[in-house]
Amino acid sequence: MIDLRSDTVTRPTGAMRAAMAKAEVGDDVFRDDPSVIALEKRMALLLGKEAALFVPSGTMANQLALRMHTRHGDEVIAHRKCHIFNHESGAAAALAGVQLRLLDSVDGSLPECAVEAAIRSDDDPHNAPTTLIAMENTHNECGGVVVPQSNIQRIAEIARQHSLRFHLDGARLFNASVASGLTPKELAAPFDSVSVCFSKGLGAPIGSVVSGTYQAVATAYRFRKMYGGGMRQAGVLAQAAMYALDNHVERLVEDHRRAQVLAIALSEFPRVQVDLATVQTNLVYFRLEKSDSLNHVGEDGVARLVSELQKKSVYITGGGGVYRAVTHLDIDDQQLHEAIRQFEAVLTGVL
Ligand SMILES: Cc1ncc(COP(=O)(O)O)c(C=O)c1O
Repeated sequence: MIDLRSDTVTRPTGAMRAAMAKAEVGDDVFRDDPSVIALEKRMALLLGKEAALFVPSGTMANQLALRMHTRHGDEVIAHRKCHIFNHESGAAAALAGVQLRLLDSVDGSLPECAVEAAIRSDDDPHNAPTTLIAMENTHNECGGVVVPQSNIQRIAEIARQHSLRFHLDGARLFNASVASGLTPKELAAPFDSVSVCFSKGLGAPIGSVVSGTYQAVATAYRFRKMYGGGMRQAGVLAQAAMYALDNHVERLVEDHRRAQVLAIALSEFPRVQVDLATVQTNLVYFRLEKSDSLNHVGEDGVARLVSELQKKSVYITGGGGVYRAVTHLDIDDQQLHEAIRQFEAVLTGVL
């Protein structure tokens, strides 16, 4: 099986499991787990923030950030294609009680004029007052692109001028760092809070952090318990994240190179459209014409392209004309070339 559905499908390596087995642990709800505390300190330092909190998932990290910065009834400015809006089960409304004000762009940036125009103050009781702006880097649905840091700096300036908080969903911050040459600290600097995942390109089985000021992280600590994210001997997981930080960051460049190879190969097949400019990290989004027979959905609810590839042991996600293939730690050159061979068979075969 060549699994290109997501970078979350990686399995911990033998060396990572060995590191996990040696982890010193304690009860983290009592803040007794030395491995968790060490990871949180390391991440705070790496991101240039006062503190960080280890949590089970990127979704929880983002949701705690919303909770830290907002009150029920507030409005949060974010990108229309962001994960917080599209893929967190409505948690922004259900848990933080905020509404999202969504803006568009092709590259994950937030247009400055649109942000300025969207900000609403609390001096009119008809308004849901804006209290937070959230961005995402790399931006998943915009193609895994690195969002221009110049745009981020300008939005940070606008946030400051209007006394708004500024959050980064940095689920793939290390991909952004490796691709841009900017350090995690430089990428995180404009933001009040940053979430980062270990369970994606870094190859750990579970875990994210949310970082910010001592006060904000203390609030997150309380809500982590409320949301059911208080973990006990979580040091085994923190140790996997530590191992990933030591061993799996620099190698992301390999995932990015393989994504390029895949994207270029796909772009050469007649039925496929790939915007190569967006393939900057490990995500490859591509399109087929709406009328293409491979878009047709079978009785199993799966688009034909996806099911035909599955028959050849290649797994991707997508449908409705848009598909995604992701490179990661468990995909080597040989698997990549086999996947390309199977894509070719399906895309150029008569079906
Ligand atoms: C940009 C982004 N943010 C947040 C998340 C949420 O992470 P998790 O699946 O750990 O909740 C994801 C997951 O893929 C993501 O792509």
